[in-house]
Amino acid sequence: MKLRNTSAACACLLSIAAARNVLRAQESTATETRSVWDGVYTEEQAKRGEALYQKECKGCHGVALAGGESSPPLTGGAFLSNWNGLTLGDLFERIRKTMPQNAPGKLNRQQNAEVLAFVLSANKFPAGKMELSRQTEFLKEIWFEAVKPDQKK
Ligand code: HEC
Repeated sequence: MKLRNTSAACACLLSIAAARNVLRAQESTATETRSVWDGVYTEEQAKRGEALYQKECKGCHGVALAGGESSPPLTGGAFLSNWNGLTLGDLFERIRKTMPQNAPGKLNRQQNAEVLAFVLSANKFPAGKMELSRQTEFLKEIWFEAVKPDQKK
């Protein structure tokens, strides 16, 4: 019974992976690379992240992510330029491994993806139809770009 469940789960995961590959293949023909401007999280996910943020992060980073006495803001110019040109994988790992500063590693991957989705929404990056992945290797394919690409010129 146990074995059968495992193989069912495997088959399911495989088909998710296959579906994802098709999606990604479609995306990569449309746009070469993805960035935070491409709707990489869902509103629902950001909402769950907000609840986690209020519980685990607000104490130091402030209600509106504006930073606290000795904690940096998670929105605005300084934050955006810190991460500009890096990937969401980098930001995800930074949060996952070092935050909350008083209990690093407390949140699981799913929760970290939710908190990251909330941070993106607070920085006014658009929501989309697909949830942000909890896998670092997928997140490493999404670039953090402070300025919307078509507004750069
Ligand atoms: C106990 C206080 C505290 C808590 C709770 C906390 N942080 Fe932090 N955070 C800090 C401090 C202090 C820094 C800067 C120094 C450092 O990196 O440790 C920081 C840095 C960061 C950075 C890097 C900012 C930048 O501009 O590069 C991110 C991102 C971050 N925190 C996210 C979070 C998230 C998300 C949570 C909740 C899961 C959280 N923090 C909870 C204190 C805290």
